[in-house]
Amino acid sequence: MRILCCLQVLLLLFSYQLSAQSPPTTNATSSLDSLLQDYSFRAFVRPRTGILYDAATVPPNLTGIKLSAMRLRSGSLRRRGVSSLKQFSIPKGVIVKPYVTRLVFVYQNLANFSQLYYPLSGYDYVAPVVGLLAYDAKNLSAVNLRELEITASKDPIRIDFSDLEPIPQGGSVVECVSFDSSGKASFSDSIRNTCETERQGHFSVVVKSVASAPSPAPPPRKEMKKKSSESNSRTWITVGSVLGGLVLLGLLMFLVLRCRKYKKQERMREMERAGETGEALRMTQVGETRAPTATTTRTQPVLETEYAA
Ligand SMILES: *[C@@H]1O[C@H](CO)[C@@H](O)[C@H](O)[C@H]1NC(C)=O
Ligand SMILES: *[C@@H]1O[C@H](CO)[C@@H](O)[C@H](O)[C@H]1NC(C)=O
Ligand SMILES: *[C@@H]1O[C@H](CO)[C@@H](O)[C@H](O)[C@H]1NC(C)=O
Ligand SMILES: *[C@@H]1O[C@H](CO)[C@@H](O)[C@H](O)[C@H]1NC(C)=O
Repeated sequence: MRILCCLQVLLLLFSYQLSAQSPPTTNATSSLDSLLQDYSFRAFVRPRTGILYDAATVPPNLTGIKLSAMRLRSGSLRRRGVSSLKQFSIPKGVIVKPYVTRLVFVYQNLANFSQLYYPLSGYDYVAPVVGLLAYDAKNLSAVNLRELEITASKDPIRIDFSDLEPIPQGGSVVECVSFDSSGKASFSDSIRNTCETERQGHFSVVVKSVASAPSPAPPPRKEMKKKSSESNSRTWITVGSVLGGLVLLGLLMFLVLRCRKYKKQERMREMERAGETGEALRMTQVGETRAPTATTTRTQPVLETEYAA
C-alpha cells in the first residue's frame, strides 16, 4: 500500500515537471497576430479594393514592425491572384475557407522582433520574418477576428527574399522556414532566394547558426550570445524544477519515515505500559515477596513452582 502511494506521488511529480517545461510561444504569437490585425485594419480609410495600404502606426512597444493591408473580393482572388503584395506573389486558384465575399490580406514584417517572437535555436535569420494572414473584410473595425484558411490549389504562393542580410558565413546554405498557426517550424529548400507555400503563415530564410558549424567565425558573436543565454536559462529552469521535485520527494520520504518511527515508538510505549500494568497486577497477587516476581519472567507456571520451592 505504502509503496503504491509513493509511486503515485512520484508520477505526479514527474508529470508536474513535464508540464512546467512546455514552451509558451504559441499564445504569444497568436496574440501578436490579433494585435497586428487591429493595427493593420486601421490603414483603411475609405479603402479601394485591390490596393495595398501601409499602416501608419504600430503599437509603441513594437516600433520597427511594418504592416500593410489589402482588401479583395474572394472571386477576384481566385480568378486573378495578386501579382505583388510586398514580397508575396499570389497565383490564380487560391481558395478561402470559410467562404467570405471579401477578405483582407494582412502583411506583417516583424523586422528586429523576428527572433523574439519566432526563436529558432541552431539557425540565424538572414531576413526578417514576414507574415501573410487573411481575415474577413465584412467589418473593418472588428477586433479579435479569426484567421481565414487560404489554400493555393494550383501554383504555390511565392515569397521573394532577394534582399538578404549579409550571410554570417560564406557558403552557408540558405533555407526557407515557415511557421504554421501553432508556431511549428518547417524547413524547405530555397530556390534562388524564393520560398513557396500553399497556405497562410509566417516565413523567413535562415542559415545554420555558426555554433553548429565545424569552423566558427567571429563576426556574429552578439546573436549567438543571445541564443546561448536563452538556452542557458531554459537549462536552468529544467535543473531548477528537477531539484525542486527532488527536494519535495525528500521531504515526503522524511515525513513517511518519521511517521513510521513515531508509530513504532508508540507501539513500544504501549507494550511497555501493558507490561507495567501486568507486573503491578501480579505484585498485588503475590503480596510481600516483591523482588523475585519483578526479576523473573511473567510465565505463571514458573512462578508457582518457584514459590512452592
Ligand atoms: C492560449 O491560452 C489560453 C488561456 O490563457 C488557452 O485557453 C488557449 O488554449 C491557449 N492557446 C493556444 C494556442 O495554446
Ligand atoms: C506590447 O504591448 C502590448 C499591449 O499594448 C502587449 O500585449 C505586448 O505584450 C507588448 N509587447 C512587447 C514586446 O513588449
Ligand atoms: C527594434 O528596433 C527599434 C528601433 O528601430 C527599437 O525601438 C526596438 O527596441 C528594437 N526591438 C528589439 C526587440 O530589438
Ligand atoms: C464592427 O466591430 C466593432 C468592434 O468589434 C463593433 O463595435 C461594431 O458594432 C461592428 N459593426 C458591425 C456592423 O458589425
